[in-house]
Amino acid sequence: MQEQGQQAREEGLVAAVVESFHATPDARLRSLMEALSRHLHAFVRETRLSEEEWRAGIDFLTAAGHITDARRQEFVLLSDVLGVSMQTIQVNNEAYADATEATVLGPFFVAGAPEVELGGDIAGGAAGEPCWVQGSVRDTEGEPLPGAVLEVWECDEDGLYDVQHEGERTAARGRLRADERGEFRFWALTPVPYPIPHDGPVGRLLEATARSPMRAPHLHFLVSAPGRRTLITHIFVDGAELRCGGDAVFGVRESLVREFERRPPGTPTPDGRELGERSWTSVRFDIVLAPAGA
Ligand code: BEZ
Ligand code: FE
Repeated sequence: MQEQGQQAREEGLVAAVVESFHATPDARLRSLMEALSRHLHAFVRETRLSEEEWRAGIDFLTAAGHITDARRQEFVLLSDVLGVSMQTIQVNNEAYADATEATVLGPFFVAGAPEVELGGDIAGGAAGEPCWVQGSVRDTEGEPLPGAVLEVWECDEDGLYDVQHEGERTAARGRLRADERGEFRFWALTPVPYPIPHDGPVGRLLEATARSPMRAPHLHFLVSAPGRRTLITHIFVDGAELRCGGDAVFGVRESLVREFERRPPGTPTPDGRELGERSWTSVRFDIVLAPAGA
């Protein structure tokens, strides 16, 4: 039990900090800063944070700043592993009818990916087992959305995105347009599990807290159509890695888990593509977009 004078001093400081934002011209900024002050002070007071611990926190944030550059964003990773990215997505993409659920964007989306014809291959030379992906884009009334734009991206069989390799190579990403019936089809790579970048402060935090850096195997989608809420999502491969390994960034939604059907070598492909002695997989993803502003 805290001595009354101590409690009053702590509460008085919180009140003074909150009050310091009273003249903020932007009402939203004012309420965000007030709430942030209240919650941060509650954390310090609840945990009785020591001065060494606060310094360690500052050192951690400093290290996150030092490792961050145009290709590496440690603060996004931190937000991801704390579940804050996923919570922000949930708050901003409330369930609407049967609209497809959203999940994290991640740091490896690159705008301006190569255009890929329907039925084409997004691999662009990246290594991995071929995967036939097919589906449709509809609105919540069930009407097809012809011309919907799909951006898709994923890692190669070594668990690396093209931007993590040396050089400027673009691979395992593409931009497609649904046909007049709102349908799409393309070749990609069967997704594999991979670790989020864990050679920095966020990786050390995961290690210190006995958490895995692994992401459940997935294929990223960013889907847009006029008048519809843009959808950022993945499909996850159902299987052992998903069920036992979990996901370092809390991105898995049961509705996004798909069976990737295994096809042994020699199984005819949907478009007659010759794969010789290679196995392949296939998956269907029917996408439903909510109205814009839903
Ligand atoms: C990704 O899926 O690409 C990703 C998401 C969050 C953190 C790191 C990677
Ligand atoms: Fe990913």
